[in-house]
Amino acid sequence: MRKRNYLLSLLALLTLFTLLLAGCGGKKEAAQNQSTEKIVAKFSHVTAPGTPKGLAAQKFADLVKERTNGRVEIQVFPSSQLYGDKDEFEALQANNVQFIAPSAGKLISFDQRFQIGDMPFLFKDNQGAARFWDSEAGKKLLRSLESQGMIGLTAWPNGMRQFMNSKKELKTPEDFKGLKFRIPAGGVLVDIFQALGAGTANIPFSEVYTALQQKVVDGTIATFDNIENEKYAEVLNYLTVANVNNLSYIVIVNKQFWDSLPPDIRETVEQCLKEATEYERQLADQLDQESLAKLKQKIKVHELTPEERQAFVEAMQPVWAKYEPVIGKELFEEAKKLNQ
Ligand code: SIN
Repeated sequence: MRKRNYLLSLLALLTLFTLLLAGCGGKKEAAQNQSTEKIVAKFSHVTAPGTPKGLAAQKFADLVKERTNGRVEIQVFPSSQLYGDKDEFEALQANNVQFIAPSAGKLISFDQRFQIGDMPFLFKDNQGAARFWDSEAGKKLLRSLESQGMIGLTAWPNGMRQFMNSKKELKTPEDFKGLKFRIPAGGVLVDIFQALGAGTANIPFSEVYTALQQKVVDGTIATFDNIENEKYAEVLNYLTVANVNNLSYIVIVNKQFWDSLPPDIRETVEQCLKEATEYERQLADQLDQESLAKLKQKIKVHELTPEERQAFVEAMQPVWAKYEPVIGKELFEEAKKLNQ
């Protein structure tokens, strides 16, 4: 009997030992899985793959894949395929998509100060806009989205916006009276056209061509690059080069996703974004000018003379007066200083 008890105790001990070993092994395996687990993220945007934003998003994805040896995969969805202007913010906040890159003004409902991107005659060019977004004041503004579950990582400027319409050549502020323009977001853009005696309709980017074709609106405000890629010249006749404001994209990531990345991976992804940003910024000017050259073959282009442009600058004084307090003097002064 004693011998039997002894054997049973030995068996129990052996079982316990085996279970313990298996437990340790399991934990070790889980830890290994965790550290090599594949990370998949989605980058959704609204422009065509061949635009500066499309090419830079793809470059970012390619760099990330290469530098993380395939551990992180960023899937890029261009042309509003996955989400468009109407639903991309909601999708980002819900972590259904991890990266988006809307124009700054579209952030109006999260923070009015992002409308600085739409301010008329404040930014001189892509470089001036980049200097602002890279400044301490610009970075602080990007970080302000954190309280809403998003992080503004950087800015991708993509050219100056111009006026386009189907009705007539636009050379003076008076020429705009009674016309209706598509705008991508409310606020500053509504007031720009109001100051010119024109109306506006807020239409998502993916619906602009049809809205112009069906004459829901008479014209739009857009960069050469978007005008060319979206084929607006097929449905509009006149382009006025006024360099009204800068179209700057804000690359935004879902905060929960960003914070969940292992620190070394996050650092690598950040470095890849930095390189993709340099690439986008080089490409934007080049593609902008190439698009203008193509557009000159297709439609009537009028470049405002300095005197003509000055009349528009003066017409925009009420817009400046209204938005300086909304956006804040500090941001304005910084943008002005960096765009002299
Ligand atoms: C974009 O370039 O991302 C769209 C701009 C617009 O909605 O006008």
